[in-house]
Amino acid sequence: MAAGDPIAEVDSVRVRFLGKKGEVSRLLKQMGKLPPDERPKVGQAANTVRDAIETAVRQALDNARDEALRRELAGPPIDVTLPGRPLDVGPRHPVSRTWDEVVDVFRKMGFEAASGPEIEGDFYNFEALNIPPEHPARDMQDTFYLNSGRPAPAMTTEGGEGPDPGDVLLRTHTSPVQVRAMLRQAPPVRIICPGKVYRRDSDPTHTPMFHQIEGLWVDRNVTMADLKGTLQLFAKAFFGTKAQVRFRPSYFQFTEPSAEVDVSCSICGGSGTAAGASARSTVEPESCKTCSGTGWLEILGAGMVDPAVFEAVNYDPEIWSGFAFGMGIDRVAMLKYQIDDLRMLFENDARFLEQFP
Ligand code: PHE
Repeated sequence: MAAGDPIAEVDSVRVRFLGKKGEVSRLLKQMGKLPPDERPKVGQAANTVRDAIETAVRQALDNARDEALRRELAGPPIDVTLPGRPLDVGPRHPVSRTWDEVVDVFRKMGFEAASGPEIEGDFYNFEALNIPPEHPARDMQDTFYLNSGRPAPAMTTEGGEGPDPGDVLLRTHTSPVQVRAMLRQAPPVRIICPGKVYRRDSDPTHTPMFHQIEGLWVDRNVTMADLKGTLQLFAKAFFGTKAQVRFRPSYFQFTEPSAEVDVSCSICGGSGTAAGASARSTVEPESCKTCSGTGWLEILGAGMVDPAVFEAVNYDPEIWSGFAFGMGIDRVAMLKYQIDDLRMLFENDARFLEQFP
């Protein structure tokens, strides 16, 4: 018997008399041995006894509970000075972590964090970036238009009237922040700008919303060598000292010359072969899935700011030069955390997210 606990004491009495192997059951089991005419009498008596015990047990239990409650209420109140038990808030999302880490690397190089609206005007998203209406370059970044024609007042530059922003749309890239930053201040400019962007795209490597990080550096005598050096430094700081970068000629309306920039594959170390494949093996080594056997992964678009962009923001292209780049944060997160399907990043499945403690 659990001494000292009245509720447990009452319960043990209940078991002793009313349990399956209790006194009352034992009595009832012996009924068969009685002469038939005595059975109803004895049965009735047994039932009466059982009912009486049940009532007594219930009463005793009620009393014991009341007594326990009375004792608790009479005791000392809750100790609010006890340390709290923290909630399990879970790990940070791999995109948020990558976002912060990338910004951090560029901050150390002297870039200042900037931001702009996700609901953007056509002027900022396209026209000032040298992409006029009806230009075919718009097709590569098909977006979601929110209305046709009327500029929203909030679309003007901070601190006064800006150019007519035109149609209102979900920005397709972070490049409009370049325009906003240059309209807001005189050169030199050195900004890094992470944010959400939107396109009409949906497949294993494209989601309608994704993240980019824009970089812009405008000053006197900024050259392509500065662009290369900056991105090389970033790759080594972010992916490790062995990381290499490669520039491939490309085309953007707002940069000239333009480049796509690849980083050596962090999974196969740039070899293009799957991890564990031996160089002496006689069988054809399996190619690395992450970089499709090329040894390189594209992470961003970049180039020297086109003079047409400087003209749109009233910077003199004879005096100022600069570079810009736009990096896919989700892509970089996939590389860093070895995630093979982009959509996993946005499904918010706790089983996936818990894998990045
Ligand atoms: N905005 C471009 C894109 O989204 C990337 C880019 C940014 C290219 C800056 C050059 C300079 O595709």
